[in-house]
Amino acid sequence: MIYETVVTTMNPDGTVHIAPMGIRVENRKYLISPFKPSKTFDNLVNSGAAVINATDEVMIFAGCLTGRENWPTVSAERVDCERLAGAAAHIEVRVERREDDELRPVFTCRSVNIVAHAPFKGFNRAQAAVIEAAILVSRLHLLPEEKIRSELKYLNNAIEKTAGEKEKTAWQWLLEKVEDYYNNAALASGRNS
Ligand SMILES: Cc1cc2nc3c(=O)[nH]c(=O)nc-3n(C[C@H](O)[C@H](O)[C@H](O)COP(=O)(O)O)c2cc1C
Repeated sequence: MIYETVVTTMNPDGTVHIAPMGIRVENRKYLISPFKPSKTFDNLVNSGAAVINATDEVMIFAGCLTGRENWPTVSAERVDCERLAGAAAHIEVRVERREDDELRPVFTCRSVNIVAHAPFKGFNRAQAAVIEAAILVSRLHLLPEEKIRSELKYLNNAIEKTAGEKEKTAWQWLLEKVEDYYNNAALASGRNS
């Protein structure tokens, strides 16, 4: 099973890096698989620590994919790292092992502190739709435009029926990113023809 979370790591200059990541839990270990190259990969190698944040603030997922990377953080307790201030729960981890791979290495981590901050509120379809759309946005360069547009059209049903203001804003950011991407691609192909 994969949990869609937000992983925070520390940059060498002491600032925090925030990135949505799918996390697996196996034999009570937490598996983080950042693509190469990525800041999360570099930071895990350099610092050997991270925080896995569970949050339903989907503006953070959409924000990180659309250039809005500044979200409030506070210090973690047992690792030298920051965590999301608004996380519903967070897990502080240290890297135990790295399985190298050209494209997608796996960091096996052990938890050193698990803290719950807020109760589980239940599922929301619009939040799930934003997460799905954020994943589509992270794959714009890999997937055909037709597939992107048809999936967004389907996901839009959940937004229309169940979104709150934050989900609507997150959705809008993602739609703008999609349009920018295809507009730029059209301009570039016009320049090259
Ligand atoms: C829900 C969700 C899950 C993601 N999971 C991963 C992941 O497991 N590994 C990864 O490398 N990128 C993942 N991404 C994409 C990264 O968040 C994004 O590409 C990010 O920029 C990673 O690179 P960075 O560490 O340099 O910021 C995910 C994106 C979303 C929206």
